[in-house]
Amino acid sequence: QFHLQPEHASYSFDGPFGTYDRQQLQRGFQVYKEVCAACHGLSYVAFRNLEEIGYGEAEVKAIANQWQIEVPDIDPKTGEASTRKATPADHFPSPYPNEVAARAANNNALPPDLSLITKARHGGASYVHSLLLGYRDPATYRNKEGEPVPTEVRPGQGLHFNPYFANLNIAMPPPIQSDGQVTYADGTAATRDQMAKDVSAFLTWTAEPRLENRHRAGLATLIFLLFATVLSYLAYQNVWHSAK
Ligand code: HEM
Repeated sequence: QFHLQPEHASYSFDGPFGTYDRQQLQRGFQVYKEVCAACHGLSYVAFRNLEEIGYGEAEVKAIANQWQIEVPDIDPKTGEASTRKATPADHFPSPYPNEVAARAANNNALPPDLSLITKARHGGASYVHSLLLGYRDPATYRNKEGEPVPTEVRPGQGLHFNPYFANLNIAMPPPIQSDGQVTYADGTAATRDQMAKDVSAFLTWTAEPRLENRHRAGLATLIFLLFATVLSYLAYQNVWHSAK
């Protein structure tokens, strides 16, 4: 047995009262933009949604302008599809024009859209965190029982051994490689663990931008139900107080 369950990492949004840490989400966005966006899109997130994690209108516009959106018209001079700069109303596009191109660039594997990945995989943010840091050398790796990786489970050409990935061999090369790979705008030290945690927090926000509203509504509901329980008990006492 070589497959590992995600290591539980703790986040500000855990538990029934958890909230997002906006600074962390911005750092996670920076990791997405500088590292993951080369291969993964975020088709459910519009650039203007970044205002919810604390970017100003002008910043969002400047960020959007760094992406290109393909337009349906063919450029009559070159015969190529034309592109235009993204605006805040556009969604984060896939970096590839289509699936064939995406697979051609990735050893026939398809980098999934990351908008909902923390919902699609058991373990959510902890899974993404573990996966990003989970690459191991199959030649020296030993599982909990101390067994070496059998040859038939070792990665073939273009695959990488990662015990957190369901079939152990993943086509994604290790994206988070060294401390300081990203220079955080807020000055936080960009250790590998920090980058993996921040980007998985960001991907939780992309999958559930209304998490805080849900937590608040849950709390308000509990307070109301408690109040209604006390009230109905008092009403019951009042109605029956003269009956023996
Ligand atoms: C798959 C995250 C960067 C290529 C995945 C998966 C996640 C992920 C969560 C899905 C694993 C699963 O199916 O359970 C990230 C993050 C990145 C990043 C957070 C940035 C920190 C990259 C880069 C590339 C890439 C830069 C291309 C060089 C792929 C490919 C797959 C994949 C090809 C499909 C793997 C397979 O099915 O074997 N990535 N990724 N990723 N990613 Fe990334």
